[in-house]
Amino acid sequence: MNTDALRGEYLAALDAASTPDAVEAVRVAALGKAGGITQLMKSLGGMAPDERLKVAPAFQALREEVSSAIEAKKASLGRAVLEARLASERLDLSLPVSPSAPGSIHPISQVMDELSEIFADLGFAVAEGPEIETDWYNFTALNIPPEHPARAMHDTFYARPEGGDEASRMVLRTHTSPVQIRTMMSEKPPIRIIAPGRVYRSDSDATHTPMFHQVEGLVIDRGITLGHLKWTLETFVKAFFEVDDVTLRLRPSFFPFTEPGVEVDVGCSWENGTLKIGGNSSWMEILGAGMVHRKVLENCGLDPAEWQGFAFGCGIDRLAMLKYGMTDLRAFFDADLRWTRHFGFGALDVPTLSAGVGA
Ligand code: PHE
Repeated sequence: MNTDALRGEYLAALDAASTPDAVEAVRVAALGKAGGITQLMKSLGGMAPDERLKVAPAFQALREEVSSAIEAKKASLGRAVLEARLASERLDLSLPVSPSAPGSIHPISQVMDELSEIFADLGFAVAEGPEIETDWYNFTALNIPPEHPARAMHDTFYARPEGGDEASRMVLRTHTSPVQIRTMMSEKPPIRIIAPGRVYRSDSDATHTPMFHQVEGLVIDRGITLGHLKWTLETFVKAFFEVDDVTLRLRPSFFPFTEPGVEVDVGCSWENGTLKIGGNSSWMEILGAGMVHRKVLENCGLDPAEWQGFAFGCGIDRLAMLKYGMTDLRAFFDADLRWTRHFGFGALDVPTLSAGVGA
């Protein structure tokens, strides 16, 4: 049996093959069920033992050589195909973009970008966490144990895995506070983060939607006090609403994960039925905040004698409505292009502090 002739034939065919399909045809002709090399290998069975011993090494070598040549050709053709695709699908990012490009940024995304810009300037990073959380991150680690009445306040969407118990059940996060826990457990203080994102509560009417947005803030360092919290929030509110005349009012409140906890109002006034931020003739509650509870620090492995911190949580939808004068929350979810265009946030207008974040 002349293995050289077969070798020459298959290698030449491979050489000529210029597409993955052509390589596959060579493979079938050589190594497929009825392929030439397969037939050779089968013929070994009918040979006398001494003859078989003589020819088998050459057959096996042929099979090895042809199959590795096929693999090599496949790989190089694959690379060539990929390179051709990369070349033909290239986008020239330096081309100018039409300023009248259709579509615009949703006000919620715009406000999230504004928040990131304002807090980046204060040295905060943006942190994230999953929207489907474990019960532990959403509640227990935040000092809300299983039977705590505060759980009832949250109208939680539960997803109990089949056969799962309380501790392993998943929830749609009811607030962005679990990102506090995730951050304290994965990073070493000092910590300065904000965490904007979606949250869920089983609640729906003119002023509530089952999905809404919050931004969490967290600072952990040595010697942190309520004073730092108040200054940070004032600086944020001034930059966000682009007014200097801002008064904040902190009222004592309760959150299981803060001690003390406060509700924060911003001074405002009503002019011809519209609300203006600034002054102090009227008050508008904008967020909940407080010093991080020592039990929460301990749950995250931090020593409360060394580390203190403050946290706040603020509804983004409400911030957007206050700043941009929307009256109906439901418009956020209508996906009406005329409505988003009305606010005119172009995809290319990245908010900057120097231009006034909302400009
Ligand atoms: N997680 C609280 C809520 O959703 C808000 C909050 C965050 C309060 C951080 C205090 C500190 O109502």
